[in-house]
Amino acid sequence: MDKTFFMEQKKIEIEYTEIDSIDELSTTDAYLVAKAREVANNAWAPYSNFFVGAAVELNNGKIVTGNNQENAAYPSGLCAERVALFAANANYPNSAVKTMAVTAFNKNGLSETPVKPCGACRQAILESELRFETPIRLILDGKSKIHIIDGIKNLLPFSFGKDDL
Ligand code: THU
Repeated sequence: MDKTFFMEQKKIEIEYTEIDSIDELSTTDAYLVAKAREVANNAWAPYSNFFVGAAVELNNGKIVTGNNQENAAYPSGLCAERVALFAANANYPNSAVKTMAVTAFNKNGLSETPVKPCGACRQAILESELRFETPIRLILDGKSKIHIIDGIKNLLPFSFGKDDL
């Protein structure tokens, strides 16, 4: 008797919104991006010269910022997104993170394309979403376009979280 196998091709779709400039954002979102741009100036990035800023808005109305902190022992550094997120969660452990704006400056100034959080930051953002049961809106800043992403599932589909343990 031949065994019949079942095989199905599946697909996951991701969604994002693209806009041309900060002027198309609401006042609150534009302010958050402005904060991320401002704090990028304080990044410690002497090795990459890639200056990243992140600003998170909490559901208690607070804004917490962070930037990348590099180290001569390269892996000891941390990305802007996690610096901001961990500072927010450390200081306001009962407030969900609602929105995160991220921006980056390279040697030519504000990055032309929207900055993309690395895999480890995506995982940390997922943890915060699951912890507070609140999706995090991401505003990824760039000179010629800005991407707005409703929740980490659009950046980290097929993720590993607490329910997989
Ligand atoms: N970096 C961030 O801070 N966030 C990102 O989304 C991408 C990369 C930092 C890490 C390192 O300090 C530098 O940018 C170059 O990778």
